[in-house]
Amino acid sequence: MYKFHKVKIKNIQQETNDAVIWTLDVPEYYKGTFIWHAGQHLTFKKMIDGEEIRRSYSILSATKSDEIKILIKKIVDGKFSQAAQSEYEIGQTIEVMPPTGHFSLSSQNDKTYAFFAAGSGITPIMSMIYEVLYNSNSQINLYYGNSTVESTLLKRQLTDLKDEFQQRLSISYFLSQEPIDIALFSGRIDKDKVNKIFDKELKNLDVVGYYLCGPGGMIDEVSKVLMENNVSSKIIHSEQFLSEGQVITDKQKTAKVDSGVMVTIDGVTSHYEIKEGEEKTLLDAALDAKIKMPYSCKAGVCATCRCKLREGQVEMINNYSLEDWELEKGYILSCQSIPKTKKISIDYDC
Ligand code: FES
Repeated sequence: MYKFHKVKIKNIQQETNDAVIWTLDVPEYYKGTFIWHAGQHLTFKKMIDGEEIRRSYSILSATKSDEIKILIKKIVDGKFSQAAQSEYEIGQTIEVMPPTGHFSLSSQNDKTYAFFAAGSGITPIMSMIYEVLYNSNSQINLYYGNSTVESTLLKRQLTDLKDEFQQRLSISYFLSQEPIDIALFSGRIDKDKVNKIFDKELKNLDVVGYYLCGPGGMIDEVSKVLMENNVSSKIIHSEQFLSEGQVITDKQKTAKVDSGVMVTIDGVTSHYEIKEGEEKTLLDAALDAKIKMPYSCKAGVCATCRCKLREGQVEMINNYSLEDWELEKGYILSCQSIPKTKKISIDYDC
């Protein structure tokens, strides 16, 4: 499951000045492996200047679509995203891991779904919108922030959906760097705006799930307002959007004890060690021991490295992706975990 596969780029389409959409040509014999839930992402790898770079991009296609599309926005100093805009051509091969990620949605009938997205955060949300519109009769309220109209990603696709599903899809656009007459929609999505939206619209609806994707600040503010308005945290789901290569912590990741780690992955169990004082997470030490564990962001955001802690204890430095129920069931992020006990056992197969 965690292997990389060679896949051709079937089409490259310019979405905005600094973003492209790739359509992938998944060979027939991989199609069973490349099935995804709305909201999941793909991890790509590329060698740049002798260094292996991995990056995750959310799938924006509908789950039953024949085509897998991803959107890559150019980031200043982002090695992969810059290469994606100019170096790759149609027909070229790229290495990609099958879909992963737990920020996903399966639609129910007769409900309302509320989505908050900012910038590139629209990509997993787009797949979720298709999921709800195509596979249920439920309603959608989308609140979507960008800096300008021109930089608004997937605007045409959203407009087409709005035309097709006028009664079921409501979209509110927010612009932070372009004047709008209506004050509520002028500026970024913040606490004050979410309070007003909740009061005016959401509190009267039977919302079965809130799905938030964007920068950490937006997610924190929206979640806080929802919880202050007695929305259960169980129905608030989020995925933080992290710029390519961005590291969001400088916290220490020093191992507290000598620890022997057993890891099971794709049915194979391996053993490796971490010495007290080493500046290594469970993932770092496994990669040093040449054990292939899945990862992408190494920042606690994408959850590609999510596994179950079967034995022992760890300290997680950051967690921007696992929800409370996953922590209660013993799931951890190996890229953020340092051992606290002499024996650790982790499992990727559950
Ligand atoms: S690799 Fe992304 S959360 Fe661990």
